[in-house]
Amino acid sequence: MRELVRKLSETRDLTDEELIALLEDDSPETSAFLAEKARKVREAVYGKDVYTRGLVEFSNICKNNCKYCGIRRDNKNAERYRLTEEQILECADMGYDLGFRTIVLQGGEDPYFTDERLVPIIREIKRRHPDVAVTLSIGERTKESYQRLFEAGADRYLLRHETADQAHYESLHPAEMSFEHRMNCLRELKEIGYQVGAGMMIGSPGQTTANLVKDLRFLQDLKPEMVGIGPFIPHHDTEFADKEAGSVEMTLKLLSIIRLMLPEVLLPATTALGTLDPRGREKGILAGANVVMPNLSPSDVRGKYLLYDNKICTGDEAAECIRCMSARVASVGYQVVANRGDHVRFKK
Ligand code: SAM
Ligand code: FES
Repeated sequence: MRELVRKLSETRDLTDEELIALLEDDSPETSAFLAEKARKVREAVYGKDVYTRGLVEFSNICKNNCKYCGIRRDNKNAERYRLTEEQILECADMGYDLGFRTIVLQGGEDPYFTDERLVPIIREIKRRHPDVAVTLSIGERTKESYQRLFEAGADRYLLRHETADQAHYESLHPAEMSFEHRMNCLRELKEIGYQVGAGMMIGSPGQTTANLVKDLRFLQDLKPEMVGIGPFIPHHDTEFADKEAGSVEMTLKLLSIIRLMLPEVLLPATTALGTLDPRGREKGILAGANVVMPNLSPSDVRGKYLLYDNKICTGDEAAECIRCMSARVASVGYQVVANRGDHVRFKK
């Protein structure tokens, strides 16, 4: 296996058969060697810096019904909330004061947030804080809408592709959702000029190693600036309640492989990884991740943005979150930095 890892780090690629062999090898030595190579590559591009994104989960109202997601439309037990424009701006101001230079506005696909409502929010964040990058993560919209939000000042857009295999996509989503549409959204976001984030859950129900190889091929082809991956974790009020969670080890391995395939990519160590393993995010950084996303949402709504069970950091204040995260990052020899943390191709 060491040969395969060396080949991957030198050529940034492997054949499908080699990738399957690497993904299915569960020896800790292989993972450790992969992580070592991935760290070298990330340090050559980004040094020891870890970028932070302040996450504002501004609405858990969603018109979609993704089968894995705790805030899906049909979950009648989810207690719904929507932050006001004022509250969103307050979160951004507080994030700025705490040193964040990227604010991520994430939410369900809430029809209330039309372009007419979002454009002034984005403009106002940029007016108050011109040195802040605004990232949106609000699902599938029309190209015209993406264009208007971009022109209002949004810099980046996170839209996980979830899986690059159409049949697998269809097994995770209701019939009204379309694989082609999601893929098309990602292409349009790129065309408009956003820094784009794709990504998938690891260990989602029915996922095979061949599906993961397809995901990697898709990422190589799209060349997103960011890749968000985290383990699937079941939520008790979904039809996947009894499914097994994804594995921390497989997620770490994929972080390393993605770092080696796309050396400049921005790669978060996600909350889901920290939920399955108390040191998950630290391990993610040691496997090649270079981004963390502490929560800036008001404490009274955090527990309601429950995508999966046992989600961590739902009780802390924002200031506490950033302190905790900085200490975690430092504990593995890296440092949280207070800048926009753009992809190298977009550095201002
Ligand atoms: N509505 C936006 C969208 O669809 O992109 C953003 C919010 S959505 C909740 C963000 C991500 O959460 C999804 O892309 C999905 O990968 C992840 N997610 C949802 N349910 C999950 C679960 N049960 N376990 C792990 N991740 C989950
Ligand atoms: Fe819409 Fe999860 S189903 S955010």
